[in-house]
Amino acid sequence: MQTLKFKNKDEMPAFGLGTWKSEPGEVYNAVKVAIKEGYRHLDCAPLYGNEKEIGKALAESIAEGTVTRSEMWITSKLWNTYHYKSEVIPSLKQSLKDLQTDYLDLYLIHWPIALKKEVIFPQKADDMASLEDIPLSETWQAMEESVNRGLAKHLGVSNFGKKNINKLISTSSIKPEMNQVECHPYFQQEDLLNFCKSNDILFTAYAPLGSSDRPDIFKAKNEPSLLEEPVIVEIAKSQNATPAQILISWALHRGTSVIPKSVNPGRIVQNFQAQFINLSEHEMKRIAKLDRGYRYVTGQFWVFEGGPYKLEDVFA
Ligand code: A2P
Repeated sequence: MQTLKFKNKDEMPAFGLGTWKSEPGEVYNAVKVAIKEGYRHLDCAPLYGNEKEIGKALAESIAEGTVTRSEMWITSKLWNTYHYKSEVIPSLKQSLKDLQTDYLDLYLIHWPIALKKEVIFPQKADDMASLEDIPLSETWQAMEESVNRGLAKHLGVSNFGKKNINKLISTSSIKPEMNQVECHPYFQQEDLLNFCKSNDILFTAYAPLGSSDRPDIFKAKNEPSLLEEPVIVEIAKSQNATPAQILISWALHRGTSVIPKSVNPGRIVQNFQAQFINLSEHEMKRIAKLDRGYRYVTGQFWVFEGGPYKLEDVFA
């Protein structure tokens, strides 16, 4: 199994199970099937509303002897409502309780965006808090505290661009070791990937299959379908594989982690098998040409007239 190595030599399985949009009622079975199949990396977040079920499936898999905790890699994320320094550890502890574990392998700031207390998802400008009011550097100090207390082994960020990462690097004592962002052939993030590499920051690709199960309100009309992209379909046919497997394999060949979401047992198995596909240099070059700077997750939901965030700042 391909891994990404952290500075202290800890290894994270590059291939993991995404759980964004996995509904309670579906995710328990998905996690159990995945762990049985050999998945050793679960990507979670309290915002996904399903950590309790994931925790139940994880605890059962451990009790049944399918896996041990130390063989698993568990990532979770700090939601935007809890950027206040005093809220970080309590929020992390809630995730630990729900996931039925004593520690996270990796804890990420979910977005470089803050919300006012008790606002889980904003409806208006006044629901937002600015990064001047709650600087990322202060949130990060509490993230560091979670490592010092043994609650998390590694720290990172998600949806961060170069400017926000640079700010964190310059003020932190524990440097961010991971950036998890949207990444797929239509949005290859070459520049950000190179920036992360040169700063010893590992990279996880979310929405690798194009995340077509997002709620309609967050979708553009006529958005392009990665799974129907002719070049991907053609390579899939010649490899005797599916388009989803080619998309996953492409991410692994670029040296990134990748976390496709599925709650369907057949597709969970299919996605796992993508780790064993070999793409040629020629195939990688053909896929490299597909980049069109297309984001599925635009970040528009953080932008309100009169609010503290502009769209160009969100991923800055
Ligand atoms: P399902 O959960 O029913 O399998 P992303 O990881 O980019 O967010 O994409 C998740 C979407 O892709 C979900 O709708 C998921 O549906 C679907 N999906 C996952 N694996 C596959 C696959 N192998 N082939 C086709 N669609 C897939």
